[in-house]
Amino acid sequence: AQLVYDPSEVDENTQQRWENSQISKADLHYGARKRKSDKEKKKGNEIITDEQIEFIKEAIMSGKIDEQEDPIEEKKRKIEEEKLSIQEQRKSLPIFAHRQKILDLLSSNQVIIIVGETGSGKTTQLTQYLHESGYTKNGKKVGCTQPRRVAAMSVAKRVADEMGVTLGKEVGYAIRFEDCTSDKTVVKYMTDGMMLREFLREPDLGSYSCIMIDEAHERTLHTDILFGLVKDLARYRSDLKLIISSATMDAFKFSKYFDDAPIYKIPGRRFPVDIYNTKAPEADYLDAAIVSVLQIHLTQPPGDILVFLTGQAEIEAATEILTQRTHGLGTKIGELIICPIYSALPSNMQVKIFEKTPPGARKVVLATNIAETSLTINGIVYVIDTGFCKQNYYNPRTGMESLIVAPISKASSLQRAGRAGRVAPGKCFRLYTKWSFENELDDETVPEIQRTNLASVVLMLKSLGIDDLVGFDFLDPPPSETLMRSIEQLYALAALNEDGELTKLGRRMAEFPLDPMMSKMIISSEKYKTTSEILTIASMLSVNNSIFYRPKDKEVHADNARKNFFNETGDHLSLLNVYNQWRDSNYSIQWCYENYIQYRSMKRAKDVRDQIENLCERVEIPLVSNPTDYEGILKTITSGFFFNTSNITRSGDYSTLKKKQTVFIHPTSALFNRVPKWVIFFEVVQTTKEYMRQISEIQPQWLIEIAPHFYQLKEISSSVHKMPKQGKGKVNSSEVLKKEEFLI
Ligand code: CDP
Ligand code: MG
Repeated sequence: AQLVYDPSEVDENTQQRWENSQISKADLHYGARKRKSDKEKKKGNEIITDEQIEFIKEAIMSGKIDEQEDPIEEKKRKIEEEKLSIQEQRKSLPIFAHRQKILDLLSSNQVIIIVGETGSGKTTQLTQYLHESGYTKNGKKVGCTQPRRVAAMSVAKRVADEMGVTLGKEVGYAIRFEDCTSDKTVVKYMTDGMMLREFLREPDLGSYSCIMIDEAHERTLHTDILFGLVKDLARYRSDLKLIISSATMDAFKFSKYFDDAPIYKIPGRRFPVDIYNTKAPEADYLDAAIVSVLQIHLTQPPGDILVFLTGQAEIEAATEILTQRTHGLGTKIGELIICPIYSALPSNMQVKIFEKTPPGARKVVLATNIAETSLTINGIVYVIDTGFCKQNYYNPRTGMESLIVAPISKASSLQRAGRAGRVAPGKCFRLYTKWSFENELDDETVPEIQRTNLASVVLMLKSLGIDDLVGFDFLDPPPSETLMRSIEQLYALAALNEDGELTKLGRRMAEFPLDPMMSKMIISSEKYKTTSEILTIASMLSVNNSIFYRPKDKEVHADNARKNFFNETGDHLSLLNVYNQWRDSNYSIQWCYENYIQYRSMKRAKDVRDQIENLCERVEIPLVSNPTDYEGILKTITSGFFFNTSNITRSGDYSTLKKKQTVFIHPTSALFNRVPKWVIFFEVVQTTKEYMRQISEIQPQWLIEIAPHFYQLKEISSSVHKMPKQGKGKVNSSEVLKKEEFLI
């Protein structure tokens, strides 16, 4: 099968070239390529064989060949060169010519809106301009928010480099569970969620002289809440300056909201981008994306490729397949440097995407939505747009939040295509039809505040003393039903009292940067004396879907390794098992490797655990351990997650207890081959079905014991006697695992 693109804004010649260059998928398959290159070798072509490469490497190592004349001198020269060029790069950015005008505008206005194409220099330069012109004198800071963790880290690193300082000193960043700042920090990048937490610590943000709310167009929940808070704060802190910056043209809306604040547009530089759509819808966009990458690599002129995928698992899968298929392509074809980027990628691996591509090679960046506007990667000429992204959807009626892979909006689609035209004329390959672009995509992405559960934000606003949520100055208000449900939920968790006021428990819960259900679980561990175990489970849940490693071709081994950790009560205790065994191995990498566990995720779980442990100290929860008290642990989990319960119904399927939503046990669950009557789950994900994930068996009477205000006896007794469907769940889980089920 070939991927055939339908040309939309493209001249005939280009199209002709593209179509002529089509190659079949079979051709691209590693095996086929390998055979070809073997043949070429036999023909005596000047291809360097693996043995020759080994020989050369050995020669270099043993000193027979000088690789560099003087490595130290060369390194020095390189550093000098880089320093110079970093300053030149700053000056070459579109924003540079507007430096003074922007500073002047800010000195005569309290709030300004800045609009500029991605890559014009807003995020990295504006904070430095402020710093250079005195905004960080007298111990004041400049803060800049980012919707994404990776962006906060990577821009902070870049700015530290540009200023020639160590990251974490004058320039730092703060993301959840990681604070890379010091007393010296004057330019602070942080996620919008962390900025919200700054309000809890310092309600007047007295240590800040200027706050820049960046990527405002993304309209994340936290950014939207920040708008309301900073707008209010600005009224009684006349010395505080605000910059709202955005990559798209919704600036009028922001301006109107901020009392007609002036808009400054940085004129963009952009090269034309040809857009190609597929002629027919693609059944498997991941496969289509991979084939497109290889087609471009083998047939198109130099230029890096940016592929938009939806999440970490998908990106890892693509990385693996691409590595396999390009391995053995032979030396005639340039190297394809594969760079994954997603929010959980450790920072030392993120730098790779910004490194210059060596001559002759081509870089392919496999990214989530993060590369749409938050990160600028130089050198991108080709964009492959799968047309999807992962989004949270909250249904106030069912009270369920699910993470689903959803089609992007037209606005996103245009942004993505735009990424191809920053350095030269580019091409964007859309893995969907022109018809579907025109007829199926929404114009704009719905702001997150209108499609997510608001419980944690309501809890935070309540603890900031904001009681009138209906009267809160939202840029776009959330559905009132969602707001009501959040208040009900917090009431059920006993974080609010009957009058909607914050309780002592609620105040303690707000200390944790976690979902209220999770915070409640942690605080309840005090009562059940299971804190140490619960902290581990909470941290493992925070990194939850990337613990187990399941490489292609080794699925069976990996699945067996996973099953060895299973605890009969379900997934929560299985996760505890993984962590404790890893801890007993002295946090060994080798152990992870042998057990098909992702070391990086475990390390992150450990970091998260350390952080939550500190927070526990702050709210005075003693760190007791009770590893064999399964019932105590499961009851603690139930205290937080009692909303998420389901039981087996007459039809043999599971149904959530309150809202009667049909849900299924995820095939990777420890409970998949067993059919417990009552379960509690961490979340629902929607792939091929609505799957519950991270599930444990509970006893129904616990619900009455733990949440008597929420569950009544009749709710649990009416369904106790139903029998599960015969034979249900008797399949071997590794046989039925579909690829889609892993890709969330
Ligand atoms: O915020 P905006 O999209 O306007 O631009 P920016 O993020 O400030 O990026 C300006 C320049 O800095 C771009 O050319 C980026 O490639 C570069 N940059 C970088 O090299 N490394 C980073 N981590 C971030 C930006
Ligand atoms: Mg930016």
